[in-house]
Amino acid sequence: MASVTSLTASVHQRLADALSAALPEAGSADPLLRRSDRADYQANGILALAKKLKGNPRELATQVVSGITAPDLIKDIEVSGPGFLNITVTDRAIVETLAARAADARLGVPYKENAGTTVIDYAQPNVAKEMHVGHLRSAVIGAAMVEILEFTGESVIRRHHIGDWGTQFGMLIQYLLEHPSELDHGDAASVDGEAAMSSLNKIYKASRVLFDSDEEFKTRARDRVVALQAGEPETLALWQRFVDESKIYFYSVFDKLDMQIADPDIVGESGYNDMLEETCRILEETGVAVRSEGALCVFFDDVKGPDGNPTPLIVKKSNGGYGYAATDLSAIRNRVGDLKATTLLYVVDVRQSLHFKMVFETARRAGWLTDEVKAHQLGFGTVLGKDGKPFKTREGETVRLIDLLDEAVDRATSVVREKNNAKIGLSEAEIVENGAQIGIGAVKYADLSTSAARDYKFDLDQMVSLNGDTSVYSQYAYARIRSILRDAGERTAVAHPELELAPAERALGLHLDQFGEVVAEAATEYEPHKLAAYIYRLASLFTTFYTECPVIKPAPALEVAENRLFLCDLTARTLHQGLALLGIRTPERL
Ligand code: ARG
Repeated sequence: MASVTSLTASVHQRLADALSAALPEAGSADPLLRRSDRADYQANGILALAKKLKGNPRELATQVVSGITAPDLIKDIEVSGPGFLNITVTDRAIVETLAARAADARLGVPYKENAGTTVIDYAQPNVAKEMHVGHLRSAVIGAAMVEILEFTGESVIRRHHIGDWGTQFGMLIQYLLEHPSELDHGDAASVDGEAAMSSLNKIYKASRVLFDSDEEFKTRARDRVVALQAGEPETLALWQRFVDESKIYFYSVFDKLDMQIADPDIVGESGYNDMLEETCRILEETGVAVRSEGALCVFFDDVKGPDGNPTPLIVKKSNGGYGYAATDLSAIRNRVGDLKATTLLYVVDVRQSLHFKMVFETARRAGWLTDEVKAHQLGFGTVLGKDGKPFKTREGETVRLIDLLDEAVDRATSVVREKNNAKIGLSEAEIVENGAQIGIGAVKYADLSTSAARDYKFDLDQMVSLNGDTSVYSQYAYARIRSILRDAGERTAVAHPELELAPAERALGLHLDQFGEVVAEAATEYEPHKLAAYIYRLASLFTTFYTECPVIKPAPALEVAENRLFLCDLTARTLHQGLALLGIRTPERL
């Protein structure tokens, strides 16, 4: 464990360093230090080390115990079981460390040692189509990863790979040409997201009906694709209208989600159009792709269809058209070659895993991905309804995202209104504002609090509940702390390392200590749910602390009160920072 013990190093880190220093062959062995129920920490690394050194683990552990010198840090250390170490740290170490943490605007979260550039592909809805819950997941998980990665010092470039190209545009454009008034809203400036989507939807449906029933229209639509790909100006202008109209809708959804999406970061499939031909030429010339039944294909030994025949990645279809794969491969060239990415991260449904597996492997064969430039799919599972089936309306249609978000906000607003009283004193405008922050937070948190790859049930009742693993619970804990701090009067938050801590104070303090490690882990493992779990535990430990340790009434001794206010304040700041990394707001009063 190579690390520098700095002022803001955690108790955990300092302890790990002290153990490494006391271990024979220091540096080569990880003490595998974990929080434990028996003591504050347990170190399990001696077992592996003993095996390596062909020694007796208990003897080795005893040797470490007598060799370790950190009286300020360690209160008690003992050998247990086959060679574990149980360690209790001093109260002083906890409070001193947290005090140093509190003096740091980053709350002690270290910058990553080898920060690079990550291009993250997320929030990628499709033009002229309604967004669905899958797009919600990509947006929410992606936005959290952006914040977490940036906080650890990584340079992050956002890419919204929207579906804005392909054969369906022939049909749409041709229809609009023949029915020119259908995208007219009169006063264009007043078009809202919903109006934009509803006209797009109508055009989509109507053109689809025509396409399926009218052979001549079908032919005209196909010719229109050719015109689009050739960049024929009138066709392109109409295509642009579809894109612009869709963006009005996308922005309305992202806005409701309290999410910033910047126009230059929207580089959809069409953005790589000029590269497709060259991508295919390189792949063919290097032999990575071969012609098969007229199409340009890449084959893999381990990818076979149900019939046992290999399923290739098709980069160019036999009719000369390019598909999803050619675009993604070109995007890789752009992101690696021009944007100088060291990591490519894709926040995309796990059902597209095979596609990405083949695309990444192709890019490796072509030399675009190397040991220095890695690609990773952060795949997410399906959003299910309460019945455990993929989330649909009763009519079997995809649920409109806006409706879902509105309902979440409505429910959260009722909660806020019900809990409001004379002491909290929220105005109607604040109730509405807080309701939005709670409702949207609840939707995001539900998405972020289970490991991404798993499916989860979209259950609004559970999401906005004040009890249990919800953002609402943590937001209320935050607001309560803010209220305590306002009520503290003359007394202020001051750390007192000389004090003895109550069990609930130690538990809270040791959890606060872990913040930096948790953020680092969420960043390197692409696991925002670990941060969510940390936040929920922090709020729970605070609740226990607040029940067991009076802060204001009955008034404890001055130093005790100050030290407790200090713990309150650091907890609030950590909740605020942690939730902010997940894209969730923390109202001051609830
Ligand atoms: N637009 C796609 C969809 O709705 C997701 C795009 C994912 N990103 C990518 N580079 N292929 O499923």
